[in-house]
Amino acid sequence: MDSGEIKAWVDLQSHAEEIKDLHLAELFRLEADRFGEFSFSTESFLLDLSKQRITKETLGKLTALVEQQALGEWIEKLFTGEQINVSEGRSALHTALRLPIEETLRVNDRVITEDIHASLEKMALLVRQIQQAQWRGFDGRPIRSIVNIGVGGSNLGPLMACDALEQYTPAESKQLDIHFVSSMDGSELEKLLPLLEPATTLFIVASKTFSTIDTLANANTAREWLLKASGKSVDLINQHHFIAATGNIRAAQSWGVPEKNQLLFWDWVGGRYSLWSVIGLPIALKVGVENFRAILKGAHAMDRHFRETSFDKNLPVLLGLVGVWNINFLNIHAHTILPYDGRLSHLPSYLQQLEMESNGKSVNAKGERLNYRTCPVLWGEVGSNAQHAFYQLLHQGTELVMCDFITTAVRYEGEGEELQLQHQLSLANCLAQSRLLALGAESENDLGYQHYDGNQPSTTIMLDELTPETFGGLIALYEHKVFVQSVIWEINPFDQWGVEKGKKLASSLLPEFQSQVSGDLDSSTRGLIQRVQRQQAQ
Ligand code: F6P
Repeated sequence: MDSGEIKAWVDLQSHAEEIKDLHLAELFRLEADRFGEFSFSTESFLLDLSKQRITKETLGKLTALVEQQALGEWIEKLFTGEQINVSEGRSALHTALRLPIEETLRVNDRVITEDIHASLEKMALLVRQIQQAQWRGFDGRPIRSIVNIGVGGSNLGPLMACDALEQYTPAESKQLDIHFVSSMDGSELEKLLPLLEPATTLFIVASKTFSTIDTLANANTAREWLLKASGKSVDLINQHHFIAATGNIRAAQSWGVPEKNQLLFWDWVGGRYSLWSVIGLPIALKVGVENFRAILKGAHAMDRHFRETSFDKNLPVLLGLVGVWNINFLNIHAHTILPYDGRLSHLPSYLQQLEMESNGKSVNAKGERLNYRTCPVLWGEVGSNAQHAFYQLLHQGTELVMCDFITTAVRYEGEGEELQLQHQLSLANCLAQSRLLALGAESENDLGYQHYDGNQPSTTIMLDELTPETFGGLIALYEHKVFVQSVIWEINPFDQWGVEKGKKLASSLLPEFQSQVSGDLDSSTRGLIQRVQRQQAQ
């Protein structure tokens, strides 16, 4: 779109001119029940937007913008499997992965829900075999350690979920230890392998494409380690020690994973949207199949809320809209994710990929250059730790930053008083920080360094409790928020061409390390390769 031609956009620009100097402290003074006015809830979530720099009029105008951008039609295209990932000619059907068994979805004459449930069933079967010690390693002993090898979407979601939901580990999974390996340079495997028993270790090679060099390099190293330790044939090792979770069965097959160990998903599941598929195998191993299904159920509840609720009460829509307001109308281009709950420590890096790989684009879905800003720089950390790291910048720096505070109302029920007290402490910090960021504070003397400007906008997302269901709902909330923003910005959020070129360049550079460096390279790259060659020759 040309933003200048969209009436709602132009309207928002003049509205922003009118209210941009209104301080949040002033907004709270003017409206006694700002919280009542700007907080929205579902059964287990509360979204508090009262600390955003908005008025009722702002929300009305933002809602007009999504209507003008035909969000309702886009939501239907998403859920019904239209090929909205146009550059790759694919649907984006992660929502179908969480449909309950009794609902069917037919896309292009195929009942894809049958495929989905068959794949989940196969995964459930493997999980039970492993939990019940029926899956044996090369010397007949049962599997005890699981290593998920994958990167990006094939790593971040399962890693986050396993950590977040550890307390839900059922008795039958207690004897399993689950590890994650992603880094291309082998440093994680180098540390991990000496701690593992080869005969009782099972590797999951998680890769949608089964061509990601990072993952294949780690898988090759793992297999070599097993071959050396066991003295067995490669076929036997593949049979007993490797499972593939992939969309590319042929590549998994030719790498050596036998058919019975292959778990399938489809090209209409984006990598960063894949934790709901068999990429979730480590999650099902950790928290059990029932809890994995509860995660899907929670995500499905959020899907329904997104699809069925009017925009002015729709959590993902509102979350997306305040982001667009901050970015495009208040010129705020940094966004921090601050979970006040250590169980969600991997959420910031998960959202980095979800948001920045989806909407970090400067062309629209047709490939035309945009004349407005899109996805901001996003980062984060467990809030209470971040207080001792980058909150200084949030409170007194020169950058405007929008903040998402994420917390749970109830925790440690039935556990020790000390832990419950720690939870209250964390909540108090969460609320105190968002309050200070919003309202600011005058210096008690004339020392400038004790002054807090405030006016940093924030959203608080409060879960009643962190359970498999609310966890699923939280992640679906962010997925749909990203989608809402992509519709406003007219971006295709489901491709990632920006990462493709770098991969190709890396493979063309690899041979340069082994030979006379090409004169065609820029002097920096050439100089650095020559330095490596000199140091390695010593
Ligand atoms: O580098 C980008 C990316 O393609 C991500 O989108 C994806 O999640 C990751 O690589 C891993 O890809 P794969 O699952 O195919 O190994």
